[in-house]
Amino acid sequence: MRIVLLGSPGSGKGTQASKIVTVFSIPHISTGDMFRENIKNGTPIGLEAKKYIEKGLLVPDDVTLSMIEDRFSESDCTNGFLLDGFPRTLVQAEALEAELEKNEKKLTAVVNLDVSDETIISRMTGRRVCNSCGSTYNLTYNKPKVENTCDYCRGQLFIRDDDKQETVTNRLRVYKNETQPLIDYYKGKDILITINGEQDASDVFNNIRKALETVR
Ligand code: AP5
Ligand code: MG
Ligand code: ZN
Repeated sequence: MRIVLLGSPGSGKGTQASKIVTVFSIPHISTGDMFRENIKNGTPIGLEAKKYIEKGLLVPDDVTLSMIEDRFSESDCTNGFLLDGFPRTLVQAEALEAELEKNEKKLTAVVNLDVSDETIISRMTGRRVCNSCGSTYNLTYNKPKVENTCDYCRGQLFIRDDDKQETVTNRLRVYKNETQPLIDYYKGKDILITINGEQDASDVFNNIRKALETVR
């Protein structure tokens, strides 16, 4: 299965991705996570990406594409993958299609998580992420059992640098201008599945699972 998860910042892509990859046994590829890892390790990609991410802007297509193309060449991608946060521009979507065509492959489905801006703002302010395994929590909707501590690995929880109110507003604006057009792009290819992302995370997941089982 080759799946793309589309949705505004904070729509729940990361939360749903970890559930989907477990059920369908495919690798989870998040360009946001890859950039954060590069930033942590101080790589040239990380240094470049940081300038954009901290402002809530997209990292330029050439940087993003060179990073993701390397990832696609790894052996775990042969039987499919779940893309979380990629593609985010039409240029990226076309590059992905060209990459798949080289191997006579196609996307199985594009899952679009539909969530209102008001919900996004309230989710982002409460988000906490584990510094060790990357698990995502929320102080209102999905609290860790012990304050500031990951339920799974006991890692410390932190607030993402780009979750400040003004950066979130920027990310939403960038999403509308640059990424939202992909909804029509994939609708035109007849592979778009839109899911109501406002429900409880487990209900969102059940809907995604049902929809994917019909197309796999
Ligand atoms: P990225 O890391 O992809 O961030 P994003 O798209 O802004 O999305 P988030 O990770 O913030 O949210 P999410 O949808 O994963 O939601 P989550 O599950 O965490 O990208 C970061 C930056 O990197 C970008 O701004 C850009 O600069 C750069 N970048 C990345 N990819 C790029 C690309 N392809 N091209 C160029 N630049 C790129 O959930 C959010 C919160 O809500 C959590 O607290 C969670 O617990 C809670 N929650 C989730 N689901 C529910 C629910 N159903 N009910 C209640 N609460 C919920
Ligand atoms: Mg995410
Ligand atoms: Zn953890």
